Amino acid sequence: RVESLPDRFGRVATDLRVSVTDKCNLRCTYCMPVEGMVWLPREELLTDDELIRLIGIGVKRLGITKVRFTGGEPLVRPTLESLVAATVAMRTPDGVAPATALTTNGIGLDRRAAGLAAAGLGRVNISLDSIDPGRFAAVARRDRLDDVLAGIDAALDAGLSPVKINAVPQRSYRDDAPELLSFCLDRDLELRFIEYMPIGAPGWSADAVISADDMFDALRSAGYTLAEDPGPRGSAPAQRWTVTAPDGRTGRMGIIASVTRPFCGDCSRTRLTADGQIRNCLFSTRETDLRSAIRSGADDDELIKLWQGEMWRKAAAHGSDGAHGSGGFGESSRRMSA
Ligand code: GTP
Ligand code: 5AD
Ligand code: SF4
Repeated sequence: RVESLPDRFGRVATDLRVSVTDKCNLRCTYCMPVEGMVWLPREELLTDDELIRLIGIGVKRLGITKVRFTGGEPLVRPTLESLVAATVAMRTPDGVAPATALTTNGIGLDRRAAGLAAAGLGRVNISLDSIDPGRFAAVARRDRLDDVLAGIDAALDAGLSPVKINAVPQRSYRDDAPELLSFCLDRDLELRFIEYMPIGAPGWSADAVISADDMFDALRSAGYTLAEDPGPRGSAPAQRWTVTAPDGRTGRMGIIASVTRPFCGDCSRTRLTADGQIRNCLFSTRETDLRSAIRSGADDDELIKLWQGEMWRKAAAHGSDGAHGSGGFGESSRRMSA
């Protein structure tokens, strides 16, 4: 029997974001504290078989049509290729394979992009906050810019298109943003600027957010012309723009304005953590434990009931029912990396 994942506000989750590990090889200032995190113990992580079983229930029984692999840093999981291959082999009730995508920091992608493409991966989003080695290292707290750039080249060579670049603008955005945009226009990469959300490192404050308006201002000052795409945006976080550089090069970019222009009303996301918990929102303070259910012998119908129950409890906006329109954020019970 085919079911779905509705919530109380009429939204239906069709996009599954699967975290395959909480570990990461960078320590980006907006995401993690300097000392890193306490990683999940190995026995608490879902095994490949458990992950594939849950993704399969989502795709075959619950209306999931898009599966995005995330982390932590998903390339840290050595079996990512086989998870992708198993997912691509699944069929929705309409007989189509789910769309697949990866969100990665790009480290190690130079060696794995071709294998991931061969496994059937659809596309990839790569985080890159600056193309200046010093400023990159200041944000990532690791000197790995060259690895990321090699990863981007490998993704393009492997045909994982479109390749999108995610940047969380920093105080140096007036330098970084035009440089990044120029770099992306040269390579046909779609750059998205993301507003800093209170879910990463401790100490977020509204003053630290470089807003969408700040970004437009910086890009226009650097001579770029921007025109908003008229097409429908659906449930995508990014608002898309056509850009023209001062020297006439053109391309597209996006802005993910989760703070100043929230898009929760159209949210289509459900999340599975690396330790087998369903989250109905990034900012949720609660979870449903599918790992324990699986390990105590639950059948698919029981897992479906649990998953649906968690989505039914999804709050209106940013994990908080009172926040609709106010932009307030719930206190997520997890950091972004987990
Ligand atoms: P596309 O399908 O390529 O548009 O991917 P995506 O933008 O949904 O995924 P990605 O993993 O690249 O996420 C980029 C950024 O979007 C993240 O850093 C978040 O800031 C933001 N984002 C993704 N999902 C959510 C969400 O459910 N809520 C909010 N508020 N922000 C989100
Ligand atoms: N706010 C906004 N985006 C964040 N990311 C990590 N932490 C935050 C935060 N606090 C971004 C990364 C990556 C994506 C998955 O999430 O840059 O591109
Ligand atoms: Fe969806 Fe929660 Fe993100 Fe809003 S904050 S878009 S409801 S996951």
